[in-house]
Amino acid sequence: MQVHVADHPLISHKLTVLRDERTDSPTFRRLAEELVTLLAYEATRDVRVEPVEVRTPVAAATGVRLSEPRPLVVPILRAGLGMLEGMQRLLPTAEVGFLGMIRNEETLEADTYAERLPDDLSGRQCYVLDPMLATGGSLAAAIGFLVKRGADHITAVCLLAAPEGIERIERELESIGVPVTLVVAGVDDRLDENGYIVPGLGDAGDRLYGVV
Ligand code: PRP
Ligand code: URA
Repeated sequence: MQVHVADHPLISHKLTVLRDERTDSPTFRRLAEELVTLLAYEATRDVRVEPVEVRTPVAAATGVRLSEPRPLVVPILRAGLGMLEGMQRLLPTAEVGFLGMIRNEETLEADTYAERLPDDLSGRQCYVLDPMLATGGSLAAAIGFLVKRGADHITAVCLLAAPEGIERIERELESIGVPVTLVVAGVDDRLDENGYIVPGLGDAGDRLYGVV
């Protein structure tokens, strides 16, 4: 897997405020969105475009527009929803599919409770949104759903990742055979005994939406 750790002082600044336990939910949601917009700039560096001609008020010019089929953005519910608007700001014409997953806090494996994806993803560029790549179970399952539908261009956009999660995705991708790119604001030290990223930012879903 190609791992791209975004290196920019604004990203580091916003990530630091996100980590801070004193940051309240409204501020957390706003910052997560802003961070994703900055990450989306990196994540879409290879988005497919095609040439197009336009007329300026002065003369004819050549440029590009996004190619068809439109990219597909897939937030993993719940916490990935907090990243959707930030991504759509840069890719307003992208279509949106949904995966609902919850990590079983005993086995740490992801249970899928919702799935709304196009049947055929061949030729589509897919952008998976999930703030936390911890054990990697949720992202591995999401990649599995996309590949089963024919996706062969997958970019995961995360706020934080643990080395253990990155290693798991790399291991599983060996048998899947589809290249995946990870764009992330930071790679932290490790997982704790509960599968939380250390130092991390806590439970992303709870910090976005409260404990339910
Ligand atoms: C969190 C997070 C990821 C997952 C990461 O979701 O948003 O989806 O855990 O952990 P993993 O890499 O070990 O799978 P959670 O299951 O807490 O659900 P939520 O988004 O509804 O809060
Ligand atoms: N899910 C979270 O929200 N945070 C972590 O640190 C790990 C999984």
